[in-house]
Amino acid sequence: MDLLRLIYVSRARSTALHGRAIADFAQSFNSKHDLTGVLIATSRLYIQAIEGDPAVVRALYQRISADTRHQHPKILAEAECDLRLWPKWSMQLISASTWQEHAGPLAMADYEAVVAAGVDVCDRIYALHN
Ligand SMILES: Cc1cc2nc3c(=O)[nH]c(=O)nc-3n(C[C@H](O)[C@H](O)[C@H](O)COP(=O)(O)O)c2cc1C
Repeated sequence: MDLLRLIYVSRARSTALHGRAIADFAQSFNSKHDLTGVLIATSRLYIQAIEGDPAVVRALYQRISADTRHQHPKILAEAECDLRLWPKWSMQLISASTWQEHAGPLAMADYEAVVAAGVDVCDRIYALHN
């Protein structure tokens, strides 16, 4: 099966935490459209991985990019793949504290540092498992 896995980082527009509301909406939409992935939400930024049919992932990314709850989405990785990394997660919300346990000092990185550390950040995300 041809799948696309896309990972991006964006700046949160305010420090208000929208992660739960976004994940609730996303889980409903994504499960109907065979999309899976993870969403890391901190007070400063979002990092999200989405996997699914390439056209469906790209269309969703266009919509997400226009969402006013964040800005400056920047793609860190976009790769075709055969297998899903998160087959059971329609969009798993990863809290700031879980991300910190998982990613160590990288979890404290700001937007610029995440962009600069793109590959390392993606490796931490790939290691998040169902
Ligand atoms: C960081 C972030 C991640 C999002 N992830 C998803 C997602 O995985 N699936 C989804 O359907 N909507 C997601 N959304 C919500 C979309 O941006 C958008 O609000 C939703 O698709 C409804 O779009 P519409 O109002 O144009 O119909 C996300 C929003 C943000 C800010």
